[in-house]
Amino acid sequence: MILYFSGTGNSLAIARKIAEPLGEQVISMYDALTADLSGEKRIGLVFPTYWLDAPLAVKALIPRIVFPKDAYTFVVITCGAQTNNAVWTVRRLLKRQGVNVDYCHKIRVPDTSALAFGRNPNDQAWKFGKFAGRQDTIVADLAAGKHQLHFAGFDPLGWLLNAGSLAKKSYRLTTPVVNTDRCIGCNTCVRVCPQENIVLSDSKAHIGDNCTLCLGCVHFCPHQAVEVGNRPTHKDYQYHHPQIKLKDLLLR
Ligand SMILES: Cc1cc2nc3c(=O)[nH]c(=O)nc-3n(C[C@H](O)[C@H](O)[C@H](O)COP(=O)(O)O)c2cc1C
Repeated sequence: MILYFSGTGNSLAIARKIAEPLGEQVISMYDALTADLSGEKRIGLVFPTYWLDAPLAVKALIPRIVFPKDAYTFVVITCGAQTNNAVWTVRRLLKRQGVNVDYCHKIRVPDTSALAFGRNPNDQAWKFGKFAGRQDTIVADLAAGKHQLHFAGFDPLGWLLNAGSLAKKSYRLTTPVVNTDRCIGCNTCVRVCPQENIVLSDSKAHIGDNCTLCLGCVHFCPHQAVEVGNRPTHKDYQYHHPQIKLKDLLLR
């Protein structure tokens, strides 16, 4: 069984690509809260790096999922470049439940936060070709039940950027904001938000304080009405994994 978290489809696409040759089922980490995982022989976790760490949602969900302690457990992380503390954090959370991570690796894909910094994630599509071989390596390693931890060390910078007041400052740079002049209350962001953190009021979207920074609302808004990094959202800069559509990411 492979459990995923994904804002814009990169991690879901990788989860599916790994699951298929291994004959594993893919479910979201939210669905895993109520799933019976006790009979599973192999458990995978696939999710992105946000701010040099695992996403806030992943850090909140893992302690609430009941994992089998004797399953072969692996973690695959998607990232623009580096995973920093993402594996370290998740290993620590799983260890508290008596679960050891047997294998982990990363795959580089387009950086979905790039538009917050004035760059176009779609310009990074070259990474799909360059890192396609990594997927095959991971599948072969998992099929062989390999025990190997890549990119699992502690990174002090990753820790610092996610602690206390510094975290608040960094997260603010990638916190989505609704441009009410552009918002027509179409409900797309409400549906795509995995955290159920967006509501419509007076026909405008309102983002609550439980954002995990996945930027699904920014990338999927058909009117470019959700902005990030104090920049207008350009249609050309909106990104989702080419094989993953909006409907694939809807959890409800
Ligand atoms: C708010 C935010 C922060 C990110 N921080 C990092 C980072 O620290 N390092 C990195 O390599 N990629 C970073 N990324 C890029 C994502 O890890 C990458 O694009 C990922 O594949 C997105 O997965 P998803 O489409 O499944 O949500 C960040 C993306 C977002 C939205």
